[in-house]
Amino acid sequence: MKNSVSSMILGTGSAIPEKVLTNFDLEKIVDTTDEWIRERSGIERRHILEESKTNSDLATLAGQRALEDAGITAKELDFIIIGTVTPDSVFPSTACRVQAKMGAVKAAAFDLCAACSGFLFGLSLAYSLIQSGQGKKILVIGSEILTRITDWEDRSTCVLFGDGAGAVVVGPSDHKRGILSVYMKSDGRLGDLLYMPGGGVSFPASHETIDKRMHFIKMKGREVFKHAVRTMTDAAVHGLTEAGYEAEDIDLLITHQANIRIINAIAKRLKLPKEKVVVNIQDYGNTSAASIPIALDQVRREGRLKDGDLCLLVAFGGGFTWGSSMIKF
Ligand code: ACO
Repeated sequence: MKNSVSSMILGTGSAIPEKVLTNFDLEKIVDTTDEWIRERSGIERRHILEESKTNSDLATLAGQRALEDAGITAKELDFIIIGTVTPDSVFPSTACRVQAKMGAVKAAAFDLCAACSGFLFGLSLAYSLIQSGQGKKILVIGSEILTRITDWEDRSTCVLFGDGAGAVVVGPSDHKRGILSVYMKSDGRLGDLLYMPGGGVSFPASHETIDKRMHFIKMKGREVFKHAVRTMTDAAVHGLTEAGYEAEDIDLLITHQANIRIINAIAKRLKLPKEKVVVNIQDYGNTSAASIPIALDQVRREGRLKDGDLCLLVAFGGGFTWGSSMIKF
């Protein structure tokens, strides 16, 4: 795959719910402090989707903004892929709901379950679908309403998560720029360090599963932290090597926004200066599969990511899953 450029990002978009929950608001809900949350995670506030709305509403908005940015219509889409662990319902997929909402009549639509790596796994798949000639215009969305599977009585997790959606349109490249490498990896042996036990066929919803709070995220934070640093550094190095670059060549590093200390540890290992590392966790918290496309859209719209820039995307999430992608814009 070295330096082969067959697909590129044609447009980006994102959607963030209006309602904000600050650390000070959380101090009133659980035994925590703004100082603890900021020092341990870097988070200052997160956004929460209004009750009447659902994942596909936010995902559709982000997708429409990406289509507008790319200058194409929904009817031109061949695929809609959504990375999410918080679908509207178990089935049909949230991607099919989005397809209906935006009128993407030609597309095949499906969800992809890779937790916080869901967007990057989707991007990787889009790359392969274009390379194999199966599609020319692909909408990849990362969209999560994590606050609906957050246990508001568990201070070790409820301070971390937020809602949001980010999207990109992927299409054939002009051969001067585009996706230079894609990398996906997982280790299912570590699944129980970060998961939601209830709601699947192992533990369908019942009075018992509700009483035992099984429909919420469970996480062994300290262990997840160690794996996140190790695997995202591995993914970053893999992405760079595949594309034939050194860390110093990168203009911007966008990692999954899970914890400022994880981001700083990876940047340190790659010897990257602060100005090359994108951080927006203070405003959104951990939005799982949405964090990378939200950050990507933000830096593009702010003019921080310019044509010709080299950008390294790196993700890690439940599963465990991890991956990377090098892109020349
Ligand atoms: N407020 C105050 N104190 C707290 C809070 C809180 N919100 N939460 C935990 N504490 C306490 C603990 O009880 C513990 O107290 P003790 O020492 O008396 O036992 C102390 O703070 C330290 O707890 P740790 O869990 O060791 O804190 P740590 O420094 O590891 O930070 C955190 C916790 C922020 C969760 C961190 O481990 C982390 O970010 N882990 C990785 C999360 C991650 O990357 N997830 C990735 C993917 S998410 C996804 O896929 C959906």
